[in-house]
Amino acid sequence: MHFTRGKSAFHRNAAMILRFGKYGLAAPVLNALVRHTPLLDGDGQGAPPRAINYSADGQFIIQGDLLVGDISRRTPLDPGLRILDIGCGIGRLATALHRHRPGVIYTGFDVVRYGIEWCRKRLRDAPDFRFDHVDVRNRFYNPLGRINAESFHFPYDDNSFDLAVAISVFTHLLEDDTRRYFAEGIRTLRPGGRAYFTTFLPPDTIPQAAHFEFRHRIGAAMVERLEEPEMAVGYPLEFWEGLAAEHGARIAFLDRGSWTGQAGLPDYQDVLIFEKLR
Ligand SMILES: C[S@@+](CC[C@H](N)C(=O)[O-])C[C@H]1O[C@@H](n2cnc3c(N)ncnc32)[C@H](O)[C@@H]1O
Repeated sequence: MHFTRGKSAFHRNAAMILRFGKYGLAAPVLNALVRHTPLLDGDGQGAPPRAINYSADGQFIIQGDLLVGDISRRTPLDPGLRILDIGCGIGRLATALHRHRPGVIYTGFDVVRYGIEWCRKRLRDAPDFRFDHVDVRNRFYNPLGRINAESFHFPYDDNSFDLAVAISVFTHLLEDDTRRYFAEGIRTLRPGGRAYFTTFLPPDTIPQAAHFEFRHRIGAAMVERLEEPEMAVGYPLEFWEGLAAEHGARIAFLDRGSWTGQAGLPDYQDVLIFEKLR
């Protein structure tokens, strides 16, 4: 997650241009390097090299371990559990699951091809871990993608997963895309299955210590920067409650995150755990 609060306009715009280079223009080169050479395989400790680790600010292994702990506090990760990881990135959760819960049956998909290529290579000996690339457009992560997120059909059957996870993904999706991804996430869950989705739930008054201000609105989405809205997106809790009701789900747990500056909380983003009712 990229904080902008307190950073200059110059810094923010330079970062935006660099991101377009990395996820747009340079992506084909990075894909080929990951796929066909060992240059970006990483240090052998299980993490991708820093240059292509776009998920965890360098703390890939530790954060992956924490994620497995956080999820299993709310939902047992038993052998045979079928997990869909929406926006799986460069395998922060997948590699941690493989370390700690190798018996789960995991599918992850993402719009950044080199992340998917890296995961496939890293877990090539794990047949129950599958990774799919989808060329869905996201102005932040896949600016040249060809498919609209708001009409994207997840390439999986109805009721085919026990647990759907989206970590730091809805925090990059505007309203129409979020509505679609939520509907698709619930569609592919079996009745009684759970969805572990992280989000930002901006309080009515955002504390001074918070990392984001969310002063702008685009529909129901609360965004940090109008120039680059998908950089950080939040939604009011009522929005999620409405979506859950619309799709036959309910919120089973809400865990607040520390992004507002509150100390002592295990998660950074707010976590909503949904249960599919029927
Ligand atoms: C902050 S990263 C988090 C990655 C991963 N979930 C993790 O926790 O390490 C956000 C991820 O969302 C993915 N993403 C953005 N838009 C997406 C979309 N429309 N469909 C699937 N993934 C998307 C990005 O490519 C990126 O990998």
